[in-house]
Amino acid sequence: MKLPNIKTSLPGPKAAALIHTDRDHVSPSYTRGYPLVAEKAKGVWIHDPDGNTFLDFTSGIAVCATGHCHPHVVNAIKKQADKLLHMSGTDFYYTPQIALAEKLASLVPGNGDNKVYFGNSGAESVEAAFKLARWYTKRELNIAFFGSFHGRTMGALSLTASKIIQKKHYNPLIPGITHIPYAYCYRCPYNLSYPDCEIECVRWVEDTLFRTTVPPEEVAAIFVEPIQGEGGYIVPPPEFHTELYKAAKKYGILYVADEVQSGMGRTGKMFAMEHFGVVPDIIALAKGIASGMPLGAMVAKSDIMVWEAGSHASTFGGNPVSCSAALATIELLESELMEKARINGEYLIAGLRELQKSIECMGDVRGKGLMVGVELVKDRVTKERAGDWRNEVIQKAFAKGLLLLGCGENTIRFCPALTVSKEEIDACLSIFEETLRDLAI
Ligand SMILES: Cc1ncc(COP(=O)(O)O)c(C=O)c1O
Repeated sequence: MKLPNIKTSLPGPKAAALIHTDRDHVSPSYTRGYPLVAEKAKGVWIHDPDGNTFLDFTSGIAVCATGHCHPHVVNAIKKQADKLLHMSGTDFYYTPQIALAEKLASLVPGNGDNKVYFGNSGAESVEAAFKLARWYTKRELNIAFFGSFHGRTMGALSLTASKIIQKKHYNPLIPGITHIPYAYCYRCPYNLSYPDCEIECVRWVEDTLFRTTVPPEEVAAIFVEPIQGEGGYIVPPPEFHTELYKAAKKYGILYVADEVQSGMGRTGKMFAMEHFGVVPDIIALAKGIASGMPLGAMVAKSDIMVWEAGSHASTFGGNPVSCSAALATIELLESELMEKARINGEYLIAGLRELQKSIECMGDVRGKGLMVGVELVKDRVTKERAGDWRNEVIQKAFAKGLLLLGCGENTIRFCPALTVSKEEIDACLSIFEETLRDLAI
């Protein structure tokens, strides 16, 4: 079994020098959990400038869906870079943007009659969805969820309700957004248990929210992550989206799925909402869409994306090189990687559940495909959150050469490239186990 190879103390001397310069000149708003300097990478393996090799279960925050530098994607990028780097799809036409729009329109759930807006990031996709929902409905109110992360531009940030540090000193944000509890069954906000709860989290919206504070006829859209990402990799129960969608449709409210993290094959289906059988009105995409090239897409039903020329655009959005990378990415997802994510995701979850049997602090293991979270708790009965242990585990795993990320207050996320092999998952599981047992928690 191939394992990480750590030859120096971390960071090594070359990495330490780079980090020193970074501290002098790069924005201190970035949250670097540990001192990894990535120099080159292939698949799920990253090399730093000091010759250390790391096993990457973060894929650059769920972005490098096809693995680092997949040759098919790299070739597509090189070919396109030789032909046309930029022409601005907002003012002119070029093949990769048109081809990708056609592909995405047919790929998202529904009848294929969709249109695509291109940006450069997840926040831009959400921002565009936010503006389109307002433009189309001419309504001013919106609903989003506690724990949600939709991005950091002022509109997307107004929908986000993940961590207070993300919002501190930025008020006033966009008014008219009501945040409500997500279907977080491990910690049910209504203290109920699935399935006896009868999806109270949706019933509450209709019976309380819409009767007391939020007139549903004034709500433009519900913004929801099919599986909550930054909030803790929380998988809602099967009926959650169908029931919420039904409630939305009663009042002409648009259903906006933020698939920025959960989309593009990661969960074993092209879009996570497909696990729930709901066809959203608008879908926000980014992250895994172009294997690491900057690209965001907002896909909406054609009868909804009816805004006028000039009402929204972006100079760089839908860049030809990024679009070519996305087309190559989708080819790989469709031909093998989506199915691989499903199979290997089950393998990873089974491995983690096996560890859970004897490691008490692993309170909850959950996920779909290769979007997997482990919630650490101090006590399985009280479910006291073990955020400090979670942070320690991530640090110690890094020292052993395994790259992990946190999400929520006390969850560790596993979001490797969809190319990850069973052997690489075994390597991850063995380091993760050793890390937890070393900490004796
Ligand atoms: C669900 C979701 N939406 C939006 C975003 C924002 O994406 P970006 O950082 O590319 O702006 C993220 C990023 O983590 C996300 O997970």
